[in-house]
Amino acid sequence: MKLENEEFCLEESTIPPGFRLDTPQDQNFYLVEGRILPWKGRVIDVYSPIHIKKSGKITEKKIGSYPSFTRAQVLSALKAALSAYDNGQGRWPAEPLTSRAKAINKFLDQLAGKKKKIIKKLMWEIAKPYVELENEFERTMEFAQTVIETAKKNDVEVRKREKGIIGFVRHEAFGVALCMGPYNYPFFETLSLVIPALLMGNTVIVKPPKFGLLFFQDLLKDFRDCFPPGTVNVIFGDSEVLIPPLMESGDINIFAFIGTSQTANELISLHPKKNRLQTLLGLEAKNAAVVMADADCKASVKEVLLGALAFNGQRCAALKIVFVNKEIVECFLKIMKTEIAGIKVGMPWLKGVRITPLVDAQRIPYLKDLVDDARSHGAEILNPNGGRSFLSLFYPTIIFPVDSKMRIYHEEQFGPIIPIIPFASIETPVKYLANSSFGQQVSVFGQDIPALADFRDRVKCQVARVNINIKCQRGPDSLPFTGRKDSARGDFSPDQIWKSFSVRTTVALREGELAEKLIPRLSGKTG
Ligand code: G3H
Repeated sequence: MKLENEEFCLEESTIPPGFRLDTPQDQNFYLVEGRILPWKGRVIDVYSPIHIKKSGKITEKKIGSYPSFTRAQVLSALKAALSAYDNGQGRWPAEPLTSRAKAINKFLDQLAGKKKKIIKKLMWEIAKPYVELENEFERTMEFAQTVIETAKKNDVEVRKREKGIIGFVRHEAFGVALCMGPYNYPFFETLSLVIPALLMGNTVIVKPPKFGLLFFQDLLKDFRDCFPPGTVNVIFGDSEVLIPPLMESGDINIFAFIGTSQTANELISLHPKKNRLQTLLGLEAKNAAVVMADADCKASVKEVLLGALAFNGQRCAALKIVFVNKEIVECFLKIMKTEIAGIKVGMPWLKGVRITPLVDAQRIPYLKDLVDDARSHGAEILNPNGGRSFLSLFYPTIIFPVDSKMRIYHEEQFGPIIPIIPFASIETPVKYLANSSFGQQVSVFGQDIPALADFRDRVKCQVARVNINIKCQRGPDSLPFTGRKDSARGDFSPDQIWKSFSVRTTVALREGELAEKLIPRLSGKTG
């Protein structure tokens, strides 16, 4: 396939009409203390990773712009969040969880009506396949409902009666939550922090990711209409300007962040009272696939390709290194070369497309460096077009044989490169996992029950999930989603995440008449 192909840079008129973004999405307003005001300050332009041909010339398509907040504007968002929280006596934290759930449901109803508009903007901003964005949207709505239902059922804990004392336990808010989602799942992973934070009575400051943020302009009126003033504050601009003053203030009580451990650590270090800062962190990962000698070769290749290449490998849970037993490596590589040739590369609206433009084209030189470094240490690119790029497209690349001298062995590529390591003994992947700084998940492929069980026992304290004959992934979302070492702190699953945004707060009193009358009142069961 020729990369410099017509279909990778189209005239706008040839794009199917339903997928075109005809009007620029300029955000000329912002939300502050429950008011939507015109934005008069500096703006940041947004360009799509999808290039367009105009009169035969390749051009970058500007798709919109958003406000660039100053330090003073960020601090006024913080002031609004603090005053809405009002030491836990503000309207929002004082309301019972059921009323907060009602307000969130109203917000979600509004959101549901904007699905198409939001997905189209996201498609142009992050070039994720349209179908995957539809799933991301639905997944978010489902996630929010499960969080709400689980928290409603479990918010009031059993009254413990022991030694004549009754303990009545309820989950109460922390304070101000700062929520920052990533650019690969800007909708799902940002809202799946914001919704539980709000549900538990916190006031929230949201910093949208660098890419995939234009849809926030469609939410501002709903934030204003569904929640008391100052409860939700969205700040726009450069993280390096926006986040330090928030952290340095010492007034952020929860830092919910999905990104790199380096950024997380730098930001946390700015907080003057680290012991007061609750953190929920989804960080980097380098999930391995381990293909045993008795694995079904074809099925494991297909699953590894899905795991490594879905959304161009720009997923924290992507398979980023593949260990294949030497006995089947030849068969594995042969099938992989055939399968990779059939993977559809192109624009995100195409049916069945797997490889689309990378969100951040500035990463392409980094990906090329990783490939060049591996080649300089003796690895080869096994597939035609591997290692090549055109505009913001990077062609999927199989590199073999990889070893510990190469950077790709250690670094998280976050792109469509599949490094393959042949191994003779299971000790090789087991040691890799033990020595890795990351500890999210692993996938193992094989048939032999004792060997699979033994592998699980060997790695169960290195990763937080062992997948057997399936790729690494967050879903189904009802399962725990966490990690060890530098991969995560806290569990992002809907039955746990709301707990990270609340403190178990107890009322203890002696058994007796007063307790019998007071407890139903505290449970919210009677007036
Ligand atoms: O980027 C990390 C995502 O949370 C993983 O979710 O496995 O469904 O792609 P996913």
